[in-house]
Amino acid sequence: MCDFPLISDPNLIVGMEHSEDAGVYKLREDLAIIQTLDFFTPIVDDPYTYGQIAVTNALSDVYAMGGKPLTAMNIVCFPLKTMDISILRQILLGGLDKMHEAGVLLVGGHSVEDPELKYGISVTGIVHPEKVLLNSGALPGDLLILTKALGTGIVSTAIKAGIADPSLVDQSVACMATLNKIAGEIVQTTPSVHACTDITGFGLLGHAAEMIERRDIGIRVFSDKVPFFPKIRGLAEMGVLPAGLYRNKDFRMPLIDISPGCPEWRSDILFDPQTSGGLLFALASDQGATCLARLHDAGITEAAIIGEVVTSPPGRIVVE
Ligand code: CO
Ligand code: CO
Repeated sequence: MCDFPLISDPNLIVGMEHSEDAGVYKLREDLAIIQTLDFFTPIVDDPYTYGQIAVTNALSDVYAMGGKPLTAMNIVCFPLKTMDISILRQILLGGLDKMHEAGVLLVGGHSVEDPELKYGISVTGIVHPEKVLLNSGALPGDLLILTKALGTGIVSTAIKAGIADPSLVDQSVACMATLNKIAGEIVQTTPSVHACTDITGFGLLGHAAEMIERRDIGIRVFSDKVPFFPKIRGLAEMGVLPAGLYRNKDFRMPLIDISPGCPEWRSDILFDPQTSGGLLFALASDQGATCLARLHDAGITEAAIIGEVVTSPPGRIVVE
């Protein structure tokens, strides 16, 4: 992933050479720290909600690595000359409320003046060095579970076009502001979870592609089992699609086979770039039903088994 001259260190479990969700560094035989950060420009109008989503999104990378987030620092770029400072206060409050919900302490931060508003956090978490979940550990025969519905990118595009249904917007906002904490805890306490990542800008198929990169495995996606916000079907059929979706498609299409049974609107949704999406994880097939039931019982009702890991064809994703 990276051609900078890097210093190697035996305690570095996950570094820049991996296309992973976060960095992991071993401190002791039984303790490693996870570090990640994320920030972005507003994706919703309401500042408090924006703060909530930015924090939820940044914390996801710690959960995706099998870790527990402990502390965070604010990253703020704010247009002081053109925007009322009360807006910043609302953003920070939204972020802080999500940190409280996650049991994460805010320990500092940094602000700069910037013509374009941006907010996010850096996060430090912990994990047992032997329990780090990578996106690359999936084994043939594993099932794939996705914990949130897709569609946040398409909804954002519909909002910009002024054609978004208010109930759909609410659904998308609620989805983006839902922490992956409970899903992460279930993943961490399920035996035989072999790989995990969170779905963000590359879309479901882009992140699934990272799971098979440089490995002798492939993935079958059961496209009719993939959860998405019901009302985005019409938008996808009309071609109300974000630019990032087309980029994801162009980038990954060479290793994806879409079977004739999967309509284009549905395969398009599988490429939709997500903000603060769910976890995607691979686990031994005999654990699939129990794990799914635990997710549903915990209120993660959208969670579904959406595919499986196969040996053939290797290096390819077949969308059925
Ligand atoms: Co991630
Ligand atoms: Co990230």
